[in-house]
Amino acid sequence: MSEILSQHYDWLRALHIISIIAWMAGMLYLPRLLAYHAEAKTGSEASETFKIMEKRLLKVIMNPAMMAAWVFGILMIIANPALFDGGWMHVKMLAVVAMTGLHMAFAKWVKVFAADENTRDAKFYRIMNEVPAAIMVIIVIMAVAEPF
Ligand code: HEM
Repeated sequence: MSEILSQHYDWLRALHIISIIAWMAGMLYLPRLLAYHAEAKTGSEASETFKIMEKRLLKVIMNPAMMAAWVFGILMIIANPALFDGGWMHVKMLAVVAMTGLHMAFAKWVKVFAADENTRDAKFYRIMNEVPAAIMVIIVIMAVAEPF
């Protein structure tokens, strides 16, 4: 198994990078939608449109992309378990777990808006919009520069 994975390692890495680009596009766009949605009147046409956009972004793009990023990432670890000797990989995986937790929080907020039960203001979601960007910076520096 790890022999075959090692032979196709660059394909796994390419598919990993494609899936994280899609995942991060959603992680950076969804909180922006929630911020605008928080300013829309409950029951208005705009609010109903935001519900459809948020649900589709989450279900069609973000969920499959996150799962693909995990699958291709884990396959690379199976192919090369020595990757875990590097401190950078430990920091990276901690940041990736934080990103996955944030994804789950976003999914919960999509449900709250869908039920017209949101109580938070747009400012909250604008601040939350910065968090995935900050975590992404840490992950990419660890994955590419491997500083320690
Ligand atoms: C979801 C769980 C994830 C796992 C299990 C994982 C695991 C891995 C592994 C094992 C590699 C190969 C490292 C190497 O061969 O040097 C890798 C490469 C990479 N990962 Fe992840 N990763 C995950 C998520 C992410 C996320 C969320 C990002 C960005 C936001 C990311 C960015 C990268 C980049 C840029 C590379 C390529 C590094 C290079 O080729 O120089 N990864 N990942």
